[in-house]
Order: sequence, then structure tokens, then C-alpha cells
Amino acid sequence: MANQTNDSAPMADTIGEMTNRLLADAGIGAGMRVLDVGCGPGDVSFRIAQLVGGQGQVVGIDRDARPLAAARDRARELGLPNVTFAEGDLGALSPEHGLFDAVVGRRVLMYQPDPVAALKSLSRALRPGGLVVFQEHDATMVPACLKPLPLHERAHQWMWRTVEREGADIHMGFHLAGVLEQAGLTGVSVRAEAVVLTPQMRYRTAAVVRAMLPRILQRGVATEAEIDIDTLEERLMDERAKANATFVSDMVFGAWARKPG
Ligand SMILES: C[S@@+](CC[C@H](N)C(=O)[O-])C[C@H]1O[C@@H](n2cnc3c(N)ncnc32)[C@H](O)[C@@H]1O
Repeated sequence: MANQTNDSAPMADTIGEMTNRLLADAGIGAGMRVLDVGCGPGDVSFRIAQLVGGQGQVVGIDRDARPLAAARDRARELGLPNVTFAEGDLGALSPEHGLFDAVVGRRVLMYQPDPVAALKSLSRALRPGGLVVFQEHDATMVPACLKPLPLHERAHQWMWRTVEREGADIHMGFHLAGVLEQAGLTGVSVRAEAVVLTPQMRYRTAAVVRAMLPRILQRGVATEAEIDIDTLEERLMDERAKANATFVSDMVFGAWARKPG
């Protein structure tokens, strides 16, 4: 799917569009009560809110209070009283949240030390027959290109090695279907989609490296001099322009299944 923007247009949210398709295809729809685990600043929660509509309800939970404050501000700005956020660990969900029609998460199972146990625990908050939908990245095949892109390779390694050293499973995409099955869920469906870039398309690699810079340095993955953050974006664009080659930047897996009814 090569639907990133060219140099002069605003950057498209390709992964957000993948999230929308996954949620809709999995069966998230009008009137449902949905839990978004590891919601962060609420991007996925607001996408779910559009699908469930005014008769539905979305509860986002996250163990980190900082993104939750941003999520609450955004819900107020958007005028969405049926989207609420709570602080907590997804493995120790308070029974006061009640039962849900669906549990959703994006880029969150990869951070759980035991994702099967986390899903089993979350299943207790689902009604019988309820839906589980997760979207997770995978480092296995990216970046991929027919021509060498050594700076792109290094930039991806800085990001992926950092999250791996922080304890994340960087192959969660490939593990996703098996994890859902081992958690006792049924009717598992799985897909993978790629973010494909042509030489002219801008992408967020340099911005993500900039945001992760303190963590990259702290984990000893690369030095400030190696990264040279202020020139990184320009060097990445230049490398792709010279190679004049299409490349795959991200692989995003999506899977859904149901709690036995
Ligand atoms: C990479 S962010 C993804 C945020 C959001 N799902 C999205 O895709 O935009 C991962 C989020 O999961 C949260 N998280 C990770 N493990 C968690 C846990 N066990 N319980 C609650 N939140 C968790 C983190 O605090 C962080 O906000």
C-alpha cells in the first residue's frame, strides 16, 4: 500500500488508516462498549468512538498518567462524553469497569512480559462471545528494499534495539495469532500490512528517532554523533533519492478473535 504523501503534501496517517480498517473488519460497530488497553493519548480510543457512535461507549486505560491527561483533554475538545479514560494496569483491571463487548489494543502486547496471561486476564472483562482486537508492529522484515539503504537500516536498528533492550518483543506481529490462540480465544483471524514509501515520500522516521533520542542514548544503542539528529531527515531523504527505490518501512500485524460464548 503506497499511500504516503509526496514531499509537498501533509504526511498521511497510514497506520491510523490500517487501524480503522482492522477495527471495522473485526466487527467493532455501533452501540458497542469497548475497552482500549494501553490507550496512551487516545488515538485508537477516538477511532473506536467513531465506529461505536453516540450509543456506544469507550473506556481507555493506561498505566501512565501523562498520556491520559492529553487523552482527557482531547475527549473534551472533541465533545465526546462517552469516551472516558482511567489509570491502571491492564493485568489488574478494576471490576468497577464492568463487562465489555470488545477489548482493543495497539502496540501494547509487545510490552507485556507475559502477553498470554495479560489476554487471559483481560478476557475476564469481556462478555461471553466478546471480541478481542490487537494491532502490533514487527521488526522482522523492515526496512526492506531491493537496493542498499544503510542509513535507513541504522535508523531502524536504533529504534528497534532500544525497545528490545527495554524488554519489548520486537516480533510481536508474528507471535500475535499464536498468543490469541494460547489465551483460549477462538476464530482467530490475522493479517499484515506494509507501509510502502517511494523516494519522494516523507515519513516520520527522523521524528520518531528524535522523540526516542534520550532512550536510545540511555540504552547505549548509538551515540549522539552517530545519529546527528538535526541532519537525519535530510540524509534519509537524500539516501532514498539517490537509490531511487521504493522501500518497506513498517510491517503492521492485526488480529482478532472471540471469547468462547
Ligand atoms: C506504544 S504506546 C501505544 C499507545 C496507543 N495504544 C497507540 O497506539 O497510540 C504503549 C502504551 O501502552 C501502555 N502500557 C504498556 N503496558 C501497559 C500495561 N501493562 N497496562 C497499562 N498500560 C500499559 C504504555 O503506558 C503506553 O502508553
